[in-house]
Amino acid sequence: PKQQTLAVIKPDALEKHKEDILKEIQDRGFSVTQLKEMVLPREMAEEFYKEHSEQPFFSQLVEFMCRGPCLMLILTKENAVEEWRAMMGPTDPAHAKETSPNSIRARFASDILQNSVHGSSNEQHAMEKIQFIFGDISSEAELTSD
Ligand code: CMP
Repeated sequence: PKQQTLAVIKPDALEKHKEDILKEIQDRGFSVTQLKEMVLPREMAEEFYKEHSEQPFFSQLVEFMCRGPCLMLILTKENAVEEWRAMMGPTDPAHAKETSPNSIRARFASDILQNSVHGSSNEQHAMEKIQFIFGDISSEAELTSD
């Protein structure tokens, strides 16, 4: 069955690698179901990353994510959550370069903070974050298909 995940092209990568990353997403067989470019307001970035609010890097992370536009994408494919995470590679690009040199982070990320892309870690998070960023599109779809 098809699955959805939320992917984010972060401000560092959107400036320089937007077209490369979008092409690769399509080449790997994902459908881009929705996309939205936006500068995250601070409160939204804090809410988006609330799972990390106790981390020492939290304020840097929020600052970075608000510094310029992000591209928010809903990606649809079988096993989309895992496949997008595999395509991104590990959080730290230094680690990514060793273990998955073809991954997006290995090729485009500058450091563990400015790591070019984000992807939901599981299906539950994917549904929550998609709703948070795009609103309740699943229930709209149900309403219109009746
Ligand atoms: P992401 O996968 O979006 O999830 C949390 C983000 O926090 C991560 O990518 C990085 O941008 C950032 N991050 C994770 N670990 C660290 C760290 N040790 N130092 C700075 N930033 C980090």
